[in-house]
Amino acid sequence: MLRVAFVGCGGIGEQYLSVYRALPFVEVVCCIDADLTRATQAAVSVGKQTLAATDFSVALQDDVDLVVINTPNHLHREQTLAALAAGKHVFLQKPVAASLADAEAIAEAADLAHQRGVITGLYLSYFDQPLMHDLRAMAGQGWFGDVAHLYARLMHRGGLAVSQQVLGGQANWRASLKETGGGCFIQLAVHYVHLFQWMLGARVVRVMAMAKNLHCPGIEGEDLACAILEFSNGALATVDMAWNTAGEQLSVHGTRGTCEYIGNQTLLLDSLNGEFHGHVVHYTGRSQQQSPAAPGAAASQQSQIVIAPSLGDWQNPFNQHRLFLEAVAERRAPFVSIAAGVDDLRVVTAVYESARTGKAVAIERK
Ligand SMILES: NC(=O)c1ccc[n+]([C@@H]2O[C@H](COP(=O)([O-])OP(=O)(O)OC[C@H]3O[C@@H](n4cnc5c(N)ncnc54)[C@H](O)[C@@H]3O)[C@@H](O)[C@H]2O)c1
Repeated sequence: MLRVAFVGCGGIGEQYLSVYRALPFVEVVCCIDADLTRATQAAVSVGKQTLAATDFSVALQDDVDLVVINTPNHLHREQTLAALAAGKHVFLQKPVAASLADAEAIAEAADLAHQRGVITGLYLSYFDQPLMHDLRAMAGQGWFGDVAHLYARLMHRGGLAVSQQVLGGQANWRASLKETGGGCFIQLAVHYVHLFQWMLGARVVRVMAMAKNLHCPGIEGEDLACAILEFSNGALATVDMAWNTAGEQLSVHGTRGTCEYIGNQTLLLDSLNGEFHGHVVHYTGRSQQQSPAAPGAAASQQSQIVIAPSLGDWQNPFNQHRLFLEAVAERRAPFVSIAAGVDDLRVVTAVYESARTGKAVAIERK
């Protein structure tokens, strides 16, 4: 039995608590939140024996094997280091931390703990989606030809609500540069920075970006950021993030095929390379709609609806919480390492530097 302390029972935490309730080899010993009402609600939803607490040190007690950290970014360093020092496995929410220095300190502690058999992993919710795994296989099998360009747009109006809250005198960590580490870009883009590098098997080597706060007074970070990333294989990505409007899109464009995933629902596929059948992608290569016979035009665009599984769907074989718990139970490496998350933050930090200086910034790795 894996005995779990669940720390931070706010917006995201409550969405996947059901996974911990459902898995037979997991027992949630305690739910901890600075807000006792939230801790109590979470504890009640998990089980009769689960303790509700406001004090983080409850997670360090002997009856806990694994700590799940869902607290604001600036708390990740202190809580992760304390949990690792106490010999607990840790599953940490993205981004690794609010600063690169904090993230590097966490990676160093995770490395040391690994030598004692302690496992640390990073939660990136996009990997719950079978589609992401299909896209990587499609890229790997050459279905796109050579990938030339990737596109990500993730925009929601959460910043407008935080702005109103802060102007009304209520504190929110998302409004603080120190506590968040930035604005919409650090919060939203880490998913795609990670995903794109993983899909291509290439690293971001240079970035150019602009960022501004256009509609969210009271928030110290940006509510709009547009970045261009250059990868080690020469491909480019455009990554547009916002907290002041809405819309979502993920696209991959190659010399022989393209894929656009719009609004978390509509998948448009088009390839000269024929069939692909994956976990959710089913492309037959036969035409639903004949494209014009222009040079280089693909012959058969197809569309399908793909809905992402919920974060709390423990039966989803890609569910990242379930996979991490299984990895710990079997003493395997996590799907996403802290080191990889640190590298994502390196790119985010370069994006902020580029936005500040107006210059392209090369990513330096030791
Ligand atoms: N897609 C994703 O994977 C995703 C989505 C949203 C948020 N997140 C990440 O999850 C983390 C939390 O975000 P959220 O949206 O749930 O924030 P939130 O503000 O809704 O919840 C944070 C919770 O932490 C509690 N808390 C604050 N200080 C604490 C302390 N010292 N000890 C224990 N609890 C404390 C708060 O009371 C609150 O309930 C952040 O790192 C964020 O980046 C990830």
